[in-house]
Amino acid sequence: TDHFTYDPGFTSTGSCESGLTFIDGDKGILLHRGYRIEDLAANCSFLEVAHLLLNGELPNKEQKAKFDHDVTYHTMVHEQLSNFYRGFRRDAHPMAVLCGVVGALSAFYHDSTDINDPHARMVASFRLIAKMPTLAAMAYKYSIGQPFNYPKNDLTYAENFLHMMFSVPAEEYKMDPVLAKAMDRLFILHADHEQNASTSTVRLAGSSGANPFACIAAGIASLWGPAHGGANEAVLTMLNQIGHKDNINEFIKKAKDKDDPFRLMGFGHRVYKNYDPRAKVMQESCHEVLEVLGVEDPLLELAMELEKIALSDEYFVDRKLFPNVDFYSGIVLKAMGFPTSMFTVLFAVARTTGWVAQWKESIEDPQAKIGRPRQLYTGPTERPFVPLDKR
Ligand code: CMC
Repeated sequence: TDHFTYDPGFTSTGSCESGLTFIDGDKGILLHRGYRIEDLAANCSFLEVAHLLLNGELPNKEQKAKFDHDVTYHTMVHEQLSNFYRGFRRDAHPMAVLCGVVGALSAFYHDSTDINDPHARMVASFRLIAKMPTLAAMAYKYSIGQPFNYPKNDLTYAENFLHMMFSVPAEEYKMDPVLAKAMDRLFILHADHEQNASTSTVRLAGSSGANPFACIAAGIASLWGPAHGGANEAVLTMLNQIGHKDNINEFIKKAKDKDDPFRLMGFGHRVYKNYDPRAKVMQESCHEVLEVLGVEDPLLELAMELEKIALSDEYFVDRKLFPNVDFYSGIVLKAMGFPTSMFTVLFAVARTTGWVAQWKESIEDPQAKIGRPRQLYTGPTERPFVPLDKR
């Protein structure tokens, strides 16, 4: 380690300079370009936040109209791509499908892959942000055997996604403004979160000069795991597994047992050692959505009870383990009609904005160089070669 620092999990390595997102994990503060996430979630549309992340400032009215148009222009995907879907098994996990189809976009848009051209970088960013909801909804439609829906550009980003997910030729989706707002807010809450595993993956892939669509596919792969974006799906699976309030203590005991791999999903965070500010907004959203839909979900009651018990347990208090953004998001999504397997896909749709903004920032960084970590070698020292008949 003469020339480098050994840092498994990169817990103390700053890998880049970035002007996008600031987190104060001890205080539970999250800022995008200086603005509090709570303020953005309450007052902005998702595409305004995308503009903020990509361009550095919230748009004024004219800029907003132009940005909305520039992104929306790209919502359709090449017809040929629908054939790509048909090659998958119907029961494939939609995250597996998304990895494949987003990677495949690189074969469709050779014109936006000159990463040294700022215009090409911008078009690639617009294409990714615009097409991701279309691709995600297609993955869902394919899995349930319904026809794909084309995007509708007179709808907002969130509305259009709900339309593509839930409209069928026989009956258009009834758009509830409260649900569309909740969808939009969920996208905002997941838009960016500095150098998490998937964003670092996108930056590392991009550092070699790789095609941006392929870089985002790499980010999707990294997001999929249950310790990262897969947590929202895992939370719901866990709540179903716990089943009843009476069983909570048994699962808390399992989570504390170091010989048991079980962890309380939706709890804990590498950076937050306080309540995740996104979790607070998500909890409010959760109550709002259930009220509008008139759903009384026993899982919400179970989640709240679980949170209460964990937050007063010494193990969780000592380790500063608080609910994170994904603790409540699954309950919201379930109430809105999303199947569990789509939860992480929604995270990917939202995070694509952060990924492209970070990718763009990294390419434009004058100090940029290929990411190339070192290692602590633990294999054998040099030894004489043994021919096959002597082994
Ligand atoms: N349940 C029980 N114990 C936990 C949990 C948990 N959810 N999270 C951390 N711990 C314990 C861990 O066992 C360790 O204990 P000890 O010091 O006694 O060995 C201590 O807390 C510190 O944990 P760590 O694993 O060193 O922390 P990390 O920063 O490497 O991991 C994490 C962060 C988010 C991967 C982890 O907290 C976790 O696995 N949480 C559950 C999965 C989850 O909800 N992930 C979503 C994160 S937010 C959305 C996103 O970023 O995608």
